[in-house]
Amino acid sequence: MASVSGLALDKVVLVTGAAGGIGQAAARQFAVQGAAHVVVADIDGDGARATAEAIDADATRSQATAVAVDVTDEAAVAAMVDGIVDRHRRLDVAFNNAGISDAMSEFDQLDLTRWDRMIAVNLTSVFLCMKHELRHMAAQGGGAIVNTSSGAGVVAAPGQPHYTAAKHGVVGLTKAAAQEYARRGIRVNAVLPGSTDTPMIRRFIGDNADIAKLIAATNIGGRMLTADEVAETAVWLASDAAGMVNGQSLIVDGGGLVR
Ligand SMILES: NC(=O)c1ccc[n+]([C@@H]2O[C@H](COP(=O)([O-])OP(=O)(O)OC[C@H]3O[C@@H](n4cnc5c(N)ncnc54)[C@H](O)[C@@H]3O)[C@@H](O)[C@H]2O)c1
Repeated sequence: MASVSGLALDKVVLVTGAAGGIGQAAARQFAVQGAAHVVVADIDGDGARATAEAIDADATRSQATAVAVDVTDEAAVAAMVDGIVDRHRRLDVAFNNAGISDAMSEFDQLDLTRWDRMIAVNLTSVFLCMKHELRHMAAQGGGAIVNTSSGAGVVAAPGQPHYTAAKHGVVGLTKAAAQEYARRGIRVNAVLPGSTDTPMIRRFIGDNADIAKLIAATNIGGRMLTADEVAETAVWLASDAAGMVNGQSLIVDGGGLVR
């Protein structure tokens, strides 16, 4: 794993969606960069525990704790964030990354249940997490938040109107929070990955050759991104090295969306 040393030194860090994929890579990357404590949160409690155990087993000075949480449940999110601050006296960094994908659908075939679920997990959750993280970060006088959007946060993903809307929403929420909290020492940015080799995209492609071809057409360099490549950007955005970067949406896709 490539790394730049000293980025996240001595921080208390929360990563959601950290049982696998980009979140898991980021949790490990924060530990490699010297985070004091990494809270590994996911609706998949066993997966979160496995990530935390792997971090604790690594020869880094970071410690990790697993939390089973559904990020669409405000009471659970508030309890998680309050619990971190109770235990560690602060929350320095949050990577709000949990998300889902869904099968492709024509616009007029997309039913309200699927729309509601997508918006809840991929957009409302980011609002809920930030609402409670910002409360503590403002009280302690600073912090850094990174939200996971997507290339679909700036262009439409074919057959994914609900995913596109949710990820565009994350870009807007990121700007809104950054603007409101900049003068209180809090930075809020978004990372916008291109196609990344994770369990999510493998499930999305399944054995559908047409979807595989569609995704391959967007890849730069003949391959998807690795989860580590996205995680490293998120960790940098959260670090003091990006101390004057605020309200930005950083596309990480090798240049596929350059126009
Ligand atoms: N993989 C890609 O190509 C790609 C591209 C752009 C953006 N993204 C975004 O990156 C983020 C991470 O995706 P990934 O590819 O690593 O997917 P993944 O499925 O590998 O990991 C997502 C994690 O989020 C967790 N999660 C789902 N719903 C949750 C909930 N309600 N509460 C708590 N945790 C929940 C899952 O259990 C899983 O561990 C998502 O927001 C996704 O939309 C992924």
